[in-house]
Amino acid sequence: MVSSGSRIESHERFDLPVSEDGFLARQSSTGDRLTLVLVNADLGNGDPLELVDTSSLYSKTRPAYDGIGKVYMGRQISQVMGHLGAGWLERSKREQEERTDLLVEMMSLEPDEVIADIGSGTGYFSLRMAPRVPDGRVVAVDIQPEMNAILEKSAKELGISNVETVLGTITDVKIPPNTVDVVLFVDAYHEFSHPWEMKRSLMRALKPGGRIVLVEYRAEDPDVLIKPHHKMSESQALIEFEAAGFDWIKTMDDLPQQHVLIFQKPVRNQDVDG
Ligand SMILES: C[S@@+](CC[C@H](N)C(=O)[O-])C[C@H]1O[C@@H](n2cnc3c(N)ncnc32)[C@H](O)[C@@H]1O
Repeated sequence: MVSSGSRIESHERFDLPVSEDGFLARQSSTGDRLTLVLVNADLGNGDPLELVDTSSLYSKTRPAYDGIGKVYMGRQISQVMGHLGAGWLERSKREQEERTDLLVEMMSLEPDEVIADIGSGTGYFSLRMAPRVPDGRVVAVDIQPEMNAILEKSAKELGISNVETVLGTITDVKIPPNTVDVVLFVDAYHEFSHPWEMKRSLMRALKPGGRIVLVEYRAEDPDVLIKPHHKMSESQALIEFEAAGFDWIKTMDDLPQQHVLIFQKPVRNQDVDG
């Protein structure tokens, strides 16, 4: 479906090829196999995003010790952290090591916003964001009921009532369309076994103009001592989210170990015109 005479433009940040005929051509920057994912990028009409060729979405490779042997856009997907790792998420030194307090500050939340914490785990961030949105709420989505149960217990103990848990599936966040202002992923997106389907699901759940805050350990930094498939480079994250139709707004590197990338769901013409 790529027209052979397409003009090639440069992506302003990573020199990615973009065709001018309503399709974005994204190719993986990692791995030795060229993966081409084509999406209808005309966000002004009808369905905002249709996958043209699904056959090249996922491929198989030999599983790394921390991977599942499934490759998406040149990246091997990591294993999911089981609920028995809950203690690590709640470790006392986490705020100091990751400056989690600064991350919540950097999100610039408005009091009435609806936040979706996807891959919320024990609710470490859900419970810290909730007081920032006293007139809004936090929707905490995880696929492990045990994680949701830990979060619910903590919320009750802390007297926090504006956090609700949702049991998602590996392909669907189970949130109604156009209801979310901000999506947060902390140390979770790299675990999604179906990243394309999850992003499609979030594209629906977000309000037009809604933003995504993606937090991943910096793969480019050898001093970040995290298993390799649990880290992600900025360029990889950019390729994956732009391929799904999100606009990149900025990257913040104020945290000691993680990138913070901000993306936005495009605002369609009819939304602007009312
Ligand atoms: C490493 S934990 C991070 C938890 C939390 N964000 C934090 O930083 O404390 C990743 C979580 O993502 C969840 N997860 C993995 N795949 C998911 C999916 N497709 N949808 C929702 N949650 C998912 C896992 O169950 C796990 O609880």
